[in-house]
Amino acid sequence: YGTPARTGAPVTVEIDGTAISVPAGTSVMRAAQEAGISVPKLCASDSLEPFGSCRLCTVEIEGRRGFPASCTTPVEPGMKVRTQSPKLAELRRGTMELYISDHPLDCLTCSANGNCELQDMAGVVGLREVRYDPVQTHLAEAKDESNPYFSYDPAKCIVCNRCVRACEEVQGTFALTIDGRGFDSRIAAGQAEDFLDSECVSCGACVQACPTATLMEKTVIEMGQAERSVTTTCAYCGVGCSFKAE
Ligand code: FES
Repeated sequence: YGTPARTGAPVTVEIDGTAISVPAGTSVMRAAQEAGISVPKLCASDSLEPFGSCRLCTVEIEGRRGFPASCTTPVEPGMKVRTQSPKLAELRRGTMELYISDHPLDCLTCSANGNCELQDMAGVVGLREVRYDPVQTHLAEAKDESNPYFSYDPAKCIVCNRCVRACEEVQGTFALTIDGRGFDSRIAAGQAEDFLDSECVSCGACVQACPTATLMEKTVIEMGQAERSVTTTCAYCGVGCSFKAE
């Protein structure tokens, strides 16, 4: 649904002509999803509080100026929302062009090929060409391979902040931060030199939250994506842990 569920009193809104009632406090994005209408997104996630950084989920709201992010805009009674229009399509393609101009074009050999939200969204918004010269400021930076379970590749980071929020909101560890601004912004392991020396407890919440191949399990890099998953409960402990088979 893109953003977490809320529990307020019902509010009725109209999205692309479809009326839907959702709890007060629900985001426009989630209301749209509940109405069966998908809104492009990169920085939003069901399990994290909305952040509004990628600007891919912009919509039009009757009576309001501009193009608000649907993930950070709560529904209001009688609100009329458009999720599709020529202007929105142009804005989303333009945003995606900027992302791709600062991203390696190695999808076919990337560990996340076929399981990458950036790749998916480029298709969803209909991006067919990038007019800008590649910037790719992070290509020269070394990957951080210090953690035994996952690697960090700054070249593939879109600075959506999902890993930082997952570390804070899911794990409560606060091991990650964002350093720098603009093209120089990057994920940092706090004040530490690398992930291994940081406060990171290797819980994997950041890897799970990453929409690209920036934070990647080393087993996936070495062995490829799992083709199917199997959930099993061990008869000996009852914790209900699960594993992924190939
Ligand atoms: Fe709404 Fe990124 S998904 S701004």
